[in-house]
Amino acid sequence: MNGFFHVPAFFQPPEQEALLEIARTVCAAAPLRRPTLTNGTPLKLTLTNCGPWGWWADKDGYRYVERHPTSGKAWPGIPGALLRLADRALESCGLEVMRVDNCLINHYAEGESLGMHIDRTEQDKRAPIVSLSIGADAEFILQDPDGAKTSYIIRSGDLVVQSGRSRGWLHGIKRIMPTMPNICKDGGRINFTLRKVLAD
Ligand code: SIN
Ligand code: FE2
Repeated sequence: MNGFFHVPAFFQPPEQEALLEIARTVCAAAPLRRPTLTNGTPLKLTLTNCGPWGWWADKDGYRYVERHPTSGKAWPGIPGALLRLADRALESCGLEVMRVDNCLINHYAEGESLGMHIDRTEQDKRAPIVSLSIGADAEFILQDPDGAKTSYIIRSGDLVVQSGRSRGWLHGIKRIMPTMPNICKDGGRINFTLRKVLAD
């Protein structure tokens, strides 16, 4: 097996509401910002973080930083409910629980997307990436080292885990789709990825 898991309906509408509330609280303390490629091209999504480390990208590169890029404040802590969901996610996939020191929160407005990339900014490049989604349906593309692409439709409440070999594979969000009903009243999608950034 390649260590990739897609678990539809992993968490239910009340927990989806709870995650939406968490996103609101985090965004109030650490507002969504639009990262750029190193050449200055803006990404087609906005993001924020919670946890000791937050992922950020601009002309200085792709990296984890301890402070919000514009406010200069430390990122808010990761709420316990999110950490418990990460544990539950890993256990349900038969994986060991891990220390989580980042939750990246991506927001995709209608029409936004995320290009194919490999998550390799973490010191620990083997720890699984746990991904929880709410809001609009999205087409997620996973590409294996032979170049074969698989498309998954990720819906509100779905879990995706990249572990094992798939941890180092290319992936991206090709598009988000108009979805009714949508817990995100702006028609968008919010994705939470829980990561272990620092090596032990
Ligand atoms: C990511 O790969 O960083 C996010 C994936 C997603 O939005 O589902
Ligand atoms: Fe990623």
